[in-house]
Amino acid sequence: MRLFHKPSSQNCALRACTLRPASADEGMHSFHYQNGSLHCEDVDLAGLADEHGTPAYVYSATTIRDHYRRLDQALAGLDHGIEYAVKANSNLSVLKLLVDEGSGFDIVSGGELRRVIEAGGDPGKCTFAGVGKTREEIEYAINKGIYCFNAESEEEVVFIDKVAGEMGKVAPVAFRVNPNVDAKTHKYISTGKSENKFGVDFSVIDAAYERASKLSNISLRGLQMHIGSQLTSLQPFLEAVEKVTPLAIRLKSAYGIEFFSIGGGVGIVYDPALKSGKPEWWAAQEEEHKPLTIEQYAEGVMPVLKESGLKILLEPGRYIVGNAGVLLTRCLYEKKGSAKTFRIVDAGMNDLIRPALYEGHHEIVPLSEPAGSSSAVDVVGPVCETGDFFCQDRELPDFAPGDAIALLSAGAYGFVMASNYNSRGLPVEILVEGSEAKVIRPRQTMDDILASEKAVL
Ligand code: LLP
Repeated sequence: MRLFHKPSSQNCALRACTLRPASADEGMHSFHYQNGSLHCEDVDLAGLADEHGTPAYVYSATTIRDHYRRLDQALAGLDHGIEYAVKANSNLSVLKLLVDEGSGFDIVSGGELRRVIEAGGDPGKCTFAGVGKTREEIEYAINKGIYCFNAESEEEVVFIDKVAGEMGKVAPVAFRVNPNVDAKTHKYISTGKSENKFGVDFSVIDAAYERASKLSNISLRGLQMHIGSQLTSLQPFLEAVEKVTPLAIRLKSAYGIEFFSIGGGVGIVYDPALKSGKPEWWAAQEEEHKPLTIEQYAEGVMPVLKESGLKILLEPGRYIVGNAGVLLTRCLYEKKGSAKTFRIVDAGMNDLIRPALYEGHHEIVPLSEPAGSSSAVDVVGPVCETGDFFCQDRELPDFAPGDAIALLSAGAYGFVMASNYNSRGLPVEILVEGSEAKVIRPRQTMDDILASEKAVL
């Protein structure tokens, strides 16, 4: 089948469905057909769907570990630290796995810090990002002794100084600089342009540090940036580090900062076929054609960053977990409309919102190895919204009501963005390692949903 035959590069969802063995530079090969059925590592996914029901998120522990180690190794020539972006997938078992690898964590709420602590992580290896930190969150983070607040405005730094002063503490702070670089990604996940709400404008950042240096209850510990997510070419990263590294060097000599965090954003391959009909922002990257490998990324940015003499932090989310997870769902009905054929499945936009929100592409494969016949269909969920679809007019291998399918590359920004919309319970999450599968979050029941709610009038 056409979709499954294009050679893949690193970290690619397609590789999951080719029957070729993974080569050394391709990384893990954790989702593959074995004896005619799709497996995660050594576990048959059809068996998991039968036992635990659908929709179900399934993650490969080995893949997560492999991606972490690959990145760590690619950066071996640099004094660096990895701060996994908790927002991508915050299940305690996923965090624990990364704690065991030695990861630090990039958090964006008091809740995420609590998760890291529950998973056994060290708050002293946490950076706290986000434009709207509350007093309660700031106090909690100071009390737990986080490594650094990555502040997004001068107003925030003044407030952190005030809160820390009231607590009789000194809080470590870095500014997030907005370098005004176009990340060439979907507009909803582009963060490094002046019109985005993130960070402090590059043009005024020196003055912001100068003013902050006069505050007595903060210490200036670093500099941070993050230009966007799902970047598949080196150029925007390089443009940003070339622009900002001289600033980092200046700040090091002026204020003795110790780190420069270059954020996350390394993209993964969602749509290996790179078919026509792709969104404009994707087409803009197409001259590169071959998506960026983590090694190319590291080799590209390292020479510039080395000049800073600073510890370099990275905040990868999607790269670590994106292709380590799938969403299993079962086909309920096939509805042949006058214009289209709809396959209605039991997962909806409340379970995986990426297609609806970012025009996100997720490969769709049957759990039983396809025999060869295919047709163009819309795969849609049960939610009462026209935007509740996983693909439109896509040529897919045949599957029928009763069959389970997998939406690939659903490990990042999948479960974490799920909601109870339409009073649907959150899906079960399962972690696989070798031939073992463990439920790491049970399916949410209607009783769970109603437990804290009251009808008062
Ligand atoms: N650091 C900061 C400050 C961030 O805001 C983010 C992501 C990351 C690191 C991690 O970026 P990554 O390596 O995962 O690209 N829900 C969207 C993605 C939102 C990303 C938000 N920030 C999606 O499903 O595509």
